[in-house]
This record gives sequence, structure tokens and C-alpha cells, in this order.
Amino acid sequence: MKRLLILIFAVAMLAPRLRADEGMWIPMLIGKNIDDMRKNGFKLTAEDLYSLNGNSLKDAIVLFGRGCTGELISNQGLLITNYHCGYSPIQALSSVEHDYLSNGFWAANKSEELPCQGLSVKFLVRMEDVTERVLREVPRGSAESVRLKLVNKASQELIDAVQKEGVVYTAQVKPLYYGNQYYLYVYQEFTDVRLVGTPPESIGKFGGDTDNWVWPRHTGDFSMFRIYANAKNEPADYSPSNVPYTPKRFLKISTQEVKENDFTLVYGFPGTTRQFITSDAVDLLVQQSNQHKINLRNIRLSIFDRYMSQNDTIRIRYASKHASVANAWKKWIGETIGLNRLNAAALKREQETMFQSWAESNSERRSRYAALLPAMHSLHQQLTPLSLVYDYRQEAINAVEMLQLASRLDALVYKSLNPATKADEMKRLRERAKRSVRQFYKDYSFNVDVEVCAAMLSTYAAQIPTEFHPDVLMQVEQHCKTPDDWMRFAVELYSQSVFADTLGIMTLLSDFDSTTAKHLLTDPVYRLHRDFEAMFEPKVVRPYYGIQDSLQLLYRGYVAGLMELHSDKNFYPDANLTLRITYGRVKGFEPKDGVVYAPFTTLDGVAEKAAMLDVSDYRVPARLLELHKNKDYGPYAVNGKIPVAFIAANHTTGGNSGSPILNAEGHLIGLNFDRCWESTMSDVMYDPNYCRNISLDIRYVLFIIDKYAQAGYLLSEMEIVN
Ligand code: ARG
Ligand code: GLU
Repeated sequence: MKRLLILIFAVAMLAPRLRADEGMWIPMLIGKNIDDMRKNGFKLTAEDLYSLNGNSLKDAIVLFGRGCTGELISNQGLLITNYHCGYSPIQALSSVEHDYLSNGFWAANKSEELPCQGLSVKFLVRMEDVTERVLREVPRGSAESVRLKLVNKASQELIDAVQKEGVVYTAQVKPLYYGNQYYLYVYQEFTDVRLVGTPPESIGKFGGDTDNWVWPRHTGDFSMFRIYANAKNEPADYSPSNVPYTPKRFLKISTQEVKENDFTLVYGFPGTTRQFITSDAVDLLVQQSNQHKINLRNIRLSIFDRYMSQNDTIRIRYASKHASVANAWKKWIGETIGLNRLNAAALKREQETMFQSWAESNSERRSRYAALLPAMHSLHQQLTPLSLVYDYRQEAINAVEMLQLASRLDALVYKSLNPATKADEMKRLRERAKRSVRQFYKDYSFNVDVEVCAAMLSTYAAQIPTEFHPDVLMQVEQHCKTPDDWMRFAVELYSQSVFADTLGIMTLLSDFDSTTAKHLLTDPVYRLHRDFEAMFEPKVVRPYYGIQDSLQLLYRGYVAGLMELHSDKNFYPDANLTLRITYGRVKGFEPKDGVVYAPFTTLDGVAEKAAMLDVSDYRVPARLLELHKNKDYGPYAVNGKIPVAFIAANHTTGGNSGSPILNAEGHLIGLNFDRCWESTMSDVMYDPNYCRNISLDIRYVLFIIDKYAQAGYLLSEMEIVN
């Protein structure tokens, strides 16, 4: 009895109790949270957020491109998202004559708007819990492979049924809680999306990598697009005869003062979180994966930095590569510090001990749950060494650009050696390879890559057990003792390869056939790539995914058990790039001893940073500083200052970029674009004291459009409320 009491007490204490502000909620089920939201100041209803009547806030929100969020802000299909989300289409439209990156772009009227090839946006039409349907035919206790087949079959039937509805929808079925539940998502996808306006990079990316993930922040991170539809207001590929799309709903914009403790809600498409992972998985992440990945990127970034600071051509060519390598690198560092500070692995271990006692407390539970954690633990012991090699494959070997280029020719080589391949397919593959190679060299530096190659191979050789060294590497190692040796090797490797000869490789591709393929197989770079892959595939990749699959299955049971154990708790599934709601309040915090972060920044801070003349990330257009100096703020100032960004306790992650941040009335007050560095562990464990998302204040957007760009005519189609 006493033991039982202790157990009950401990379970209550250690329940992964809902920490304030934590949660990425399913819109369809938001009714469960609405009381809590109203207590925090929210004024609308669950129906206002999500309803099938075609007029709820969800109808104003889109999945923008492959992994961002955007929202409609006029009844003529005008859409706003982050600058960094629009960056790649903006870059693609830019040229030396039309340098939109440096100068920005503002269409003076609809005919000037620029079609963006390959860009699409998706509205969520509806979501449905289809768990019962998907699992109906799966016999209890069936093997995972059998289950998967039946799940896929049922999912396909659901998707086909959507297609038969007559409207052009796309649909997908996704697992939640590791396959304890399944949801059907129905989307309407628009493919004619045009650039309407963007500030110059110096505003849209102000602070660059220096400020990335960091508060206080002063980035004008927005760009605007317009969705076009056919005459029936339906999706259509680009055509000059398309017309602006009339959305079911668009967001009203509030210019009211945002104050500390105000209610905020973020509505968007968070990508990936892993809140349920076990203590072993946290240890693997913090003590091994992140450490090695950070170190490998340190090496790579320092090579990039050295060349970029010495050579302007390389600086431009590697700008985007540097930004993306640095983005995850900086996040991993913040995440590692955050998880350590939280003692995340130890907390998880306590919860697991508790779970285990609960699971062993009666025979029914014992049969369902008691074996899970021990099995996961032993799988982790197998996973850890494999995971190290897996990470080096991604972050060392695939970091060598020349080896990446080689891998892009695999399909072509493979197909050309197969006599059954048809001539037109060969032609298509040749053209694709040529395009890919041309693109590769556009932003490539031989000198940078040779150094990266030498550094990555030598680090691989030093850190990875020899059983994972392909023969070529073994041979090289015998001669390479110092960094100079590795460098000499890399230079020789490249100089003997056809890949280092742009003209040569293009000629080779022009009439690529089985003879050239055989010839390529003897190329030193291509061989190095093949030898690594021939080893990785059977010895690393396959067993790694095999273990991951087994773990998924065990997690399914573990999470089901957690939900049973804490049946009074309102759970939310991990982010999976589907529409979610998260809410909290505008709030500063104490990132470290002796430092307090205020929740707001203003244009004064842009000028302060711009005065630090040695930081190139802080260069801004003179015109912006001029407006600041003259306090030429129009109606957008609050207490004599232009608000720029603010932080709030909303649980967000990658994919939430561009998401609307709404006030208690459901009006747009800003755009989510980042998290604070101290917050980045929230993908694994949320901490209300440290987790803050960073949003661009909508009044800075209006100020930039109106006063800076003098494109105030765009405001006339928005609905601005006070
Ligand atoms: N950290 C933000 C995100 O995770 C912004 C990244 C783009 N900006 C940059 N300076 N790299 O995507
Ligand atoms: N910048 C991120 C994005 O592109 C959002 C930052 C985060 O991970 O919270 O989605």
C-alpha cells in the first residue's frame, strides 16, 4: 500500500505536466484549449479558428513553398511571408540588371508582378481523424511490414476518394504519435504565385548570420506575393489570363500598440519536433551527434570564412551556402546548451523509471508496456556507433561538394550501363545531368572545396573506426600524416579528375553512353564517391534505418502508454509540417545571470547596429537611416519610435517561419521568423522560462512599404484596423 501511494504521488509529480505556453495544437481539436486561451485573453471561439464553413482563420493561411508559412492579407490574393522564405524565388528572379537582392522590388501594379517558377502555396481545406478507417483491417499483433501495407492501402483509398470529389485537391494521410493515430489532410494547391514586393536584402536579412537565432533582433524579414487563379477562382498553372485569387478569408491587420503580457497566437506549419524521445536519444543527440556535427561545420565554416573575407567573387558565390551551413550549426549549439542546462536527459530518465514502475504494476500493463523501454535501450546501444558514421556521411563526406556532384551522376551512369535503357530516357538524363553540373559550377570555388575535401577526409579518418574506411581511404591514410599531406592528396585528386574540368565534364555529358560510363568509373573522384557509398549502404545506412524502424514501433507503444498513464493531460502530437496553433503571451526573459531581455526592439536599434561600421551584416540603406534621423515615421510610430520586432512565449519551430502572429481579436500583429538562441532546445523539451519566438512587428512592415519603398498603394488593398 505504501509503495503504491509513493508511486501515485511520484507519477503525479513527474507527469509531463502541461507547462504554460507549451503545445502545438491541432486546429480541429482546439476546443479543448479554448477555455485556457480565453483565460489568457483570447476573445474568439474555436469555430473562428477552424471550421469547415470556409470562413475561419485557417482559410487565410498557406503552406508556402516547401517548408514555410504565409498568410493572405487582402481579398485579391495578396500574401505575406518572411524574406528568408521568399529568398530563393527572389534570388532566381534577380540578375545584374535587375538586382532585386540589393535594391528590393516593388510592383507598381499587378501587371508588373513577377511569376515565380516552381513556387506553390497550399491551403488546408480540411483535416479528418481517420485512425479507425486506416487501422480497421489491421489484425491485432500483425507484423510491422503487414501493418504498413494495410495502412498504406487504406490511406490510398482515402486519398483516391478525395480525388473523386470533383474539385482539384491534393490529399495526404500522416501518422501522429508514431502511428497511434492517423489524420487525413486535404489541400488546395495554387501554382501561379507572383512576386509583389520585397525590401532589399540589407533590410530583409538585416543582421544576417551575426544576428541569426539571436535576440535583440532588427530584421525586416518579410516579402509579399500574390496568388493567381483561373476565371473560376481555381488553381491553374501560370497564364497571363489568370486573375488574382479571391480567398475565402484574409487577415485584418492591427496597428494597435503591442504590450508585454498581451495574448498572442501563432497559426502555421511547424516542421519537426521530438518531444517524446527517451533519455538515451537525448544523450545521443547532446553528447555525440550535435558535438560532432558542430565540429565538422566549424571546420567547414572557417574555410568558407577565410576565403570569403579575401575574395569578393567567393563571398557572393558562397553567401547562400554559408548561411544555410551556419543556420543549423548555430541552432545545434544553442540546443545543446539548452538541453544541458535543463538536465533534459536526467529528467527523462526519472520519467522513464516512473513509467517502468507503472508498467510493471499490473499484468495487463506488464504485457503491453514493460518490455518497451528496455528494448529501446538496447537498440540505442546498437544505434550509437552507427549513428556516428551516419552523421559523418552526411556532414563530412557529403560536405565535399565534388563528391556531391559525383553522386548527381549516379542515375545517369547506372542507366547507361543498362542495355534496356531507352534512348529518350538517356537523353532526358543527360540533359538533367548537364543542367545540374552547370548549376553546380555557377556557385563553386575549386580552392574552397579542395580545402574542405582535405579537412573532411582527414577528420573522417581520425574519428571513424577503420572498419568504416573504404579501401581507397586506407591507402591514402598510409601516406597522409599531416594536414599538408591531406591537402596535397586532395589537390592531386581533383587535378586528375574530369570533375575539375568544367569543359571536359560538359563534353563528356554531351554524348554520354556506356563507354563513357565505364571511363567515369575509373575517375578518381567518382571512384572515391562510389567506394564510400558501396561501404555505407550495407554497413551503415541499411542497419541504421532498420534500427530506426524498430524504434518507431517501440515509440508507438511507449507514447500510447504515456497517454494512458497521464490520461488527464491534454497531449499534442509532434510537429509534422501540418497546420498547428500555438499560443502564449508577449514576454521578455532572463537568458543568463545578470541579463534581462526586454520584449521589444525599435528602429533605434537598427541605427545603433548600423553605426558599428565593421560589421557588414549591419549595413543598411542610407535612406532608412535618413528616415530614422528625421523621425519621418508617418502614422507607424509608437511613443516616438518605430517598432521592429518582439518576442513572445509561443511554442514554434522551423516551418513556422512566416506564420502570422495574431492578437486576442485574431488580427495580424506580426510575422514569426525565428527563435531565441536560448530557446532552441524546445524541439525536444520546452521550458517556459527560456522559450521565446521572435516576430517581426507588422508596423515595421507597413512603415517599410509606405515610407521606405513608397509603395503605399499596396496598403489600400489591406484592411487595417485600430
Ligand atoms: N534562423 C531562422 C530559421 O531557422 C532564419 C534563417 C535564415 N537567416 C539566416 N541568416 N541564415 O530558419
Ligand atoms: N527561421 C525558422 C524557419 O525558417 C524558424 C525558426 C525556428 O526554428 O523556430 O522556419
